[in-house]
Amino acid sequence: MRILVVGSGGREHALCWAIAASPLCGTLYCAPGNAGIAQEAECVAIGAEDLEGLVAFAREQAIDYVVVGPEAPLVAGLVDRLSEAGIKAFGPTAAAAVLEGSKGFVKDLCAEHGIPTAAYGRFTDPEAAKAFVRAMASEREGAPIVVKADGLAAGKGVVIAESVAAAEAAVEAALSEGAFGAAGAEVVVEEFLEGEEASFFALVDGETALPLATAQDHKRAFDGDSGPNTGGMGAYSPAPVMTPELEARVLAEIVEPTVAAMKAAGRPYKGVLYAGLMITAEGPKLIEYNARFGDPECQVLVMRLMSDLLPALIATSDGVLKSFDLRWYPEPAVTVVMAAEGYPGSYEKGSEIKGLEGLDEDDLMVFHAGTKRGEDGRLLAAGGRVLNVTALGTSVAEAQARAYAAIERIDWPEGFCRRDIGWRAVERERGGS
Ligand code: AMP
Ligand code: GLY
Repeated sequence: MRILVVGSGGREHALCWAIAASPLCGTLYCAPGNAGIAQEAECVAIGAEDLEGLVAFAREQAIDYVVVGPEAPLVAGLVDRLSEAGIKAFGPTAAAAVLEGSKGFVKDLCAEHGIPTAAYGRFTDPEAAKAFVRAMASEREGAPIVVKADGLAAGKGVVIAESVAAAEAAVEAALSEGAFGAAGAEVVVEEFLEGEEASFFALVDGETALPLATAQDHKRAFDGDSGPNTGGMGAYSPAPVMTPELEARVLAEIVEPTVAAMKAAGRPYKGVLYAGLMITAEGPKLIEYNARFGDPECQVLVMRLMSDLLPALIATSDGVLKSFDLRWYPEPAVTVVMAAEGYPGSYEKGSEIKGLEGLDEDDLMVFHAGTKRGEDGRLLAAGGRVLNVTALGTSVAEAQARAYAAIERIDWPEGFCRRDIGWRAVERERGGS
């Protein structure tokens, strides 16, 4: 088959690595890709959001199957455009990607179908939103209030406000000052949920949800889960927080009702459904959906996947997951993100990265995110999150030690990483539970 992967992050490097290993894969392209992806696929200089360019390329190159990594082209309708051109693709249509594209849509869907989530209100009028903030504050004295831009805001659209004044300011910023552009023309104001966060991933073929292995990321920039939120500084799999009992509840109470509701609404969902959850005293509640693989969670999932990924993606698109099964290596995997100094704030691009030669093995992979080759062939940093050092081990502690040993060999003074990725799972291993 002739395959095109869309995207340029660590997730797409991991997807290309897994797809290139499939006997079904003939020629593999990636648009736009990065310096690491170039080892697996032919990179073409078309941006992930250039829908016209991607469809034209897929037509010209007689691509059989397109795998879309990031959310923006999904929400913009890339899968619909490809389908109109007669090209099969992995990922939801725009009508289904609304599960990531509109937080308000998801909240209404949950309310209508009894899916557990935080109490909320949807607003375009700042005065009405602020009145709701005050009413919620008096009901739930002292608790933070969460204000979210409705649309895609590159992970920056959520404010956990510690006071009524801060919540009102967040409402004003989004609705009156356009802080999130069109994505913030509507806001969701919601109740703060207490508990431990967890993620759940499934392949969904319109009707059937096939759970993937569990994985957990680390959203905060610095050790001890401190500092600002990021796209994710590392991940591990399996995630002990997601016990089989909890997974069964999430599937039955949250994911399956969503899949059924989307089908009934004429928006059948096909692709990866990624549920961000809060495990509260009352049980799991939905925080948000993503319409794609997590990044960097995808990197640990593909490391642990024993089955061929490509037929699973195709079965998802073809609606035949019911008879499908996936096998996983029991060994845990850890991925540590190396980011440019300054990330998630401002950072320099163009510094040289050395020492990657000879690091990749079957059970240790350095997946690239923001990297490119200079004209002289040197490897350069070209983004905030730059490398994902990913290892399997017989325990989380061993996988973690192997990833950090590899990092010691990487010569990139302008980069940094967290030193504690997987700490919760390592603690649980030590405690024997
Ligand atoms: P989101 O972009 O919706 O994933 O939100 C970013 C982060 O904000 C989440 O990972 C949570 O840590 C936090 N968050 C969002 N909504 C809530 C909520 N209702 N209660 C508590 N924390 C929340
Ligand atoms: N790692 C979080 C995300 O992909 O959204």
